[in-house]
Amino acid sequence: MKAVIFEKLGGPEVLHLGDVPKPEAKPGTVVIRVRSAGINFADTLFRKGQYLMQPKLPDVPGVEAAGEIESVGADATNFRPGMRVAGIGSRTYAEYAQVPANQVIPLPDSLSFDEGAAFPIQVLTAWHMLHTSHATAAGQTVLVHSAAGGVGIVAVQIAKAAGARVIGTVSSDSKASLVKQFGADDVINYATHDFAEETNRLTGGRGADLILDAVGATTFENGLKCVAPFGHVILYGRAGGPPEPLNVFRLFEKSAKVSGFTLYAVAPQPEIMRSGIEESFRLIEQGKLKLLVGRAFPLAEAAEAHRFIESRQSTGKLVLNP
Ligand SMILES: NC(=O)c1ccc[n+]([C@@H]2O[C@H](COP(=O)([O-])OP(=O)(O)OC[C@H]3O[C@@H](n4cnc5c(N)ncnc54)[C@H](OP(=O)(O)O)[C@@H]3O)[C@@H](O)[C@H]2O)c1
Repeated sequence: MKAVIFEKLGGPEVLHLGDVPKPEAKPGTVVIRVRSAGINFADTLFRKGQYLMQPKLPDVPGVEAAGEIESVGADATNFRPGMRVAGIGSRTYAEYAQVPANQVIPLPDSLSFDEGAAFPIQVLTAWHMLHTSHATAAGQTVLVHSAAGGVGIVAVQIAKAAGARVIGTVSSDSKASLVKQFGADDVINYATHDFAEETNRLTGGRGADLILDAVGATTFENGLKCVAPFGHVILYGRAGGPPEPLNVFRLFEKSAKVSGFTLYAVAPQPEIMRSGIEESFRLIEQGKLKLLVGRAFPLAEAAEAHRFIESRQSTGKLVLNP
């Protein structure tokens, strides 16, 4: 089968189309005929050898996909060939991908495969930060960094649906209008404005109750200047580089807390995963959460897709179509 392969770590140019053996449905897994593979910023770190998981070269990137079930392994009794699903797995930039049965999500008919590929990682990351790591509710202010991105544009909508006031940060004015369209109350261009000063101004000096930060180096420290008393900063990525080590005494002044988040800590907990999936699908049905597929690329153009997400020009979800 065709897949995107890389034999060495490096820039987007190391990705190329090649042939690898088609995966088999081992016990407890299913094989999906991939119609759409989700691209995540983390895939670019994986490609460079800078992610939590290290590639086993030659390797195939990708941790999520949507398509039809092609074959079902022993013990994966809830599934049958032909079912429309999305799932979290590995090596998904390919025509077929093996996914553990407990990480397969049946897709509602109303969602396209591209929308399905936009669901597992980005929607569930946003949902669990807002509702598992934090208890987002009406009356709170949530500051969402890189709010036009894949996780960001979802987090804006889920926080709004919970009744929060939402402030987004973005690096361009065109992204700012998009984030407004998706419901943010205020948007700050953090390339041209000090977002901490702006957040404090917009909240009458109080700051944000929750800050969702996956930018890191350029945002984390400044975020501590605009977190509200008893507020919470969740660090869940480092698109702008790793932040400086935190001196915990910085937290005293506001009685603030800082936590980390990775969806891989939630994935092994089926009950918590199920609630996030059900609640997110409910928001989609109610029209409160719209999945924005910013751009779809043919599988052969994975390198171009990685260049695009790293260029900071992309909005919403990027997908690959085999
Ligand atoms: N912990 C988890 O479980 C988890 C799960 C999913 C994603 N993540 C993290 O969440 C973040 C967003 O992921 P995503 O897949 O949705 O990507 P994305 O937001 O669509 O793309 C990354 C965004 O980061 C911003 N950014 C800031 N500084 C940057 C820099 N120096 N280089 C490139 N981008 C920069 C850009 O937005 P602006 O130009 O507007 O700043 C860019 O659009 C990533 O850091 C990712 O690793 C974590």
